[in-house]
Amino acid sequence: MIYDYLIIGTGIAGLNAARMIPKDKKVLVVCKKTPWECNTFWAQGGVVRAKNDEDIPLHIKDTLTAGVFLNDTKAVETLSKNSMSAIDDLIENGLVFDKNAKGELAFTKEAAHSTNRILHADGDATGREMHMFLLQQCPHEIVIESIVIDLLYEDGICYGAHLIADGKDKIVYAHNTIIASGGVGSIYRYHTNSTTIAGDIQGICVEKGIPLKDMEMMQFHPTVFVENDKARKQLLSEALRGEGALIEDEDGYQFLKDYHADKELAPRDVVSRAIFDYSKKTGSKIYLSFKNFSKDFFKKRFPNIYKNLKEIGFELPFERVPISPAFHYSMGGIEVDLNSKVKNSKNLYAVGEVACTGVHGANRLASNSLLEGIVFSKLAVENTLKENFEINLDDYKNQNNEKHFILQKSTDKAIKNGLRNLMWTNVGIVRERQELIDAYEEVESYLLEDIGRLLFLRLLTAKSIIKSAINRKQSIGAHFIKEKQ
Ligand code: SIN
Repeated sequence: MIYDYLIIGTGIAGLNAARMIPKDKKVLVVCKKTPWECNTFWAQGGVVRAKNDEDIPLHIKDTLTAGVFLNDTKAVETLSKNSMSAIDDLIENGLVFDKNAKGELAFTKEAAHSTNRILHADGDATGREMHMFLLQQCPHEIVIESIVIDLLYEDGICYGAHLIADGKDKIVYAHNTIIASGGVGSIYRYHTNSTTIAGDIQGICVEKGIPLKDMEMMQFHPTVFVENDKARKQLLSEALRGEGALIEDEDGYQFLKDYHADKELAPRDVVSRAIFDYSKKTGSKIYLSFKNFSKDFFKKRFPNIYKNLKEIGFELPFERVPISPAFHYSMGGIEVDLNSKVKNSKNLYAVGEVACTGVHGANRLASNSLLEGIVFSKLAVENTLKENFEINLDDYKNQNNEKHFILQKSTDKAIKNGLRNLMWTNVGIVRERQELIDAYEEVESYLLEDIGRLLFLRLLTAKSIIKSAINRKQSIGAHFIKEKQ
């Protein structure tokens, strides 16, 4: 049996790719655990849609400025120019975004956007609403609890993947493979990601020589409540600051004015570094304050944040919440072209956070990622339909695809925790050259241990992040190198 498409991942990019593939194609969509164990499900703030034709150049400019011009300008143009049609297509098919009192789409603002151009759904549950919608629309088979542990890849052709499903090895052949497996959250101690997101596929790419790009560009979200004991920490959406929430120290001093003219609405990397620097310098705890909000407005605009924080003991908007930056999003990933085809590959595509289209450069503009997932998954599918690439199974049938991998070993847990702490401390918001070198050596030593396949892949991904960080000598955007005093 050979599929027309194998899609790895059920976040926004994977599901939208599935939605775009004609119903008569044989498609297999797989996910590691359940379909909603993905970052899309947890996305709060919203999704960008250029407001009108005049807004496109401005959206492009804002994206490039936030990305410190490390972006691929053509990819940014593709994103912005397709934003209205991509979002309108979802709306026409039944996705509901929040409206204002006049019944028009309610556009909000987030940091580093020069105008209100962000749509949201159920207040602060945009990702969840988009995800549920795409899941309902998916016309193809989704198989849960299927872990991809290898890609079948030779001379630029991907002929499928090796999975472990129900504890058994399974080889899946496909004419086209679309990777949509998300970023790397679980390699950091504090993160906002789904716990299934651990950079496994990026590790497979390292093994196969499939190019990764901008891997050092890790985005830390400034406002996260990290004092819970769950692996995934509680995000406090940037939309809160877009609507007037303030960052302050223990004494109520709003110190962001000392760091950037745009204060709370400065680019995300700037705000994260300011919090990091200020709390280190002063020893003060940092808070997000909602004193500008009325209770009625807050509950209506942010119903899920209100409810989630109430469950852990905060009465919003009256109480402020202690915050810290936490890992949020990986700007780098598998290097792809403007059709999301993987560099040097004939039939392998990568979409969403796992891919590096070049859209985000050195720092992603808020709410561009859900849009990127929608726009580039569509372009990927259109390209596969145009190229109609077919593998010849006879070329591969006798390959040795029966390797057996042990997923996990008893030593893994301690090393995983060691890695998370190492990445948080040495490859985090502010980096030092020697600490990066130390981290690289530490990861190399972990790789010599007797470990399971998944940890091995995670370590390869970590190694590639650190190597890129060492190779990038200058500070830019999210990659901030502190020079020795
Ligand atoms: C947020 O709601 O702050 C996250 C939005 C994003 O990551 O773009």
